[in-house]
Amino acid sequence: MVCLGNICRSPLAEGILAAKLPKDKFTVDSAGTGSWHIGHTPDDRSIAVAKKNKVNISHQKGRQFSATDFDAFDYIYVMDNSNYKNVTALAQNQNQVEKVQLILNELFPNENVDVPDPYFGLPNGFEIVYKMLDEVCDEIAKKLLEKHQ
Ligand code: 4NP
Repeated sequence: MVCLGNICRSPLAEGILAAKLPKDKFTVDSAGTGSWHIGHTPDDRSIAVAKKNKVNISHQKGRQFSATDFDAFDYIYVMDNSNYKNVTALAQNQNQVEKVQLILNELFPNENVDVPDPYFGLPNGFEIVYKMLDEVCDEIAKKLLEKHQ
């Protein structure tokens, strides 16, 4: 799960998807394309909305996406079109480019809709983002369980 800062959207996406999959069979992680929040815990507002929904993301630590992630992971979900551009710019071949998907395309194929960045937005932005990610992670978990169980 990749966003810009790795403190608002992708930590939520990581926690939400991880809670829907068996831990012994899947590794879910997140990263940011930017470096500002390396080592930081998620934004308090993300921690709070996750907690309200019984998902604990308070132990997560920010890290920056790197080209080695293309080998470490089978699926790379990005939150918005700008993340897509930044991540695919690091890809070294077509196979790596194809691992990268805009996350909401799993619900709305080919529509290229962004998960909005709630960082500078309205307080209820985090609730909205949580709902979006919960819905799309249901779809992703279903697909992964069908394919890899
Ligand atoms: P995120 O939100 O990409 O959902 O983690 C952001 C958080 C912080 C910054 C940008 C986006 N920032 O510029 O510090």
